[in-house]
Amino acid sequence: MPRPLLLLRPVAAAATSPKPATTPFLSLRRHLSTTPHAAATTTNPPNPASPSPSRANPSPRTQLKPPLPLTPSQTAFLSSLLRVNQAGELAATLIYTSQTPPLVTREPHLRPLLAHMLAQEASHLSTFNTLLAKHRVRPTALYPLWSVLASGLGWSTAVLSREAAMACTEAVETEIGGHYNGQIRVLLEMVEGWERAGHEVGEEFRGLVETLRRIRDEELEHLDQAVEHDAQKAEPHWLLTGVIRAGCRGAIWVSERV
Ligand SMILES: [Fe+2]
Ligand SMILES: [Fe+2]
Repeated sequence: MPRPLLLLRPVAAAATSPKPATTPFLSLRRHLSTTPHAAATTTNPPNPASPSPSRANPSPRTQLKPPLPLTPSQTAFLSSLLRVNQAGELAATLIYTSQTPPLVTREPHLRPLLAHMLAQEASHLSTFNTLLAKHRVRPTALYPLWSVLASGLGWSTAVLSREAAMACTEAVETEIGGHYNGQIRVLLEMVEGWERAGHEVGEEFRGLVETLRRIRDEELEHLDQAVEHDAQKAEPHWLLTGVIRAGCRGAIWVSERV
């Protein structure tokens, strides 16, 4: 029988879940553990379950029902989310990798900045590689194509000029930041729906939201750094950023589906 996407083996959960034998949730399907997560109180509406320091003597207000299983459309959304994010982080890693040699040869003072951004992109990619493997989501079929295009984009903009390379970063990170924000919005709507219905939200699901927020913030930091390093002095800035942003949107659209 084919296994559903996002299947998570109930190994760890079996040790922590109060009802492992009767909970039919699968992986992100069980949003992934039944323990409420304190981090959810940072921007979400107050979660009645979160402030409780103890599960031993819950008050009536904190007695939430177990997490609901994901619907097919939620499962499809999460699969698509992981797939497109992995593709995007691969592309970002390759852009910075291919920008570095031509850029630091001419402008050695940029080496620490590029190394910092590349290290963060490599960490993002590693995060999504792990999540894809864990939840058995297939990567995009266009992995080789994105690899070639991203490397070419990074190298060619860096050869053109420092400003062009930074405009490339500005364009890419603008699209990626907005992309992550859109995903976070959908995930928070899911959380709100579960909480409104009186269901717990799995710790791993909340962890996914926090991971996306952290990565989104780092992408926007790259955007700011690019602007600080004269991205908007690239000639012609409007054309460079317009073409690259359109390309990013196209790549995101395709990678969510293929
Ligand atoms: Fe990234
Ligand atoms: Fe980035």
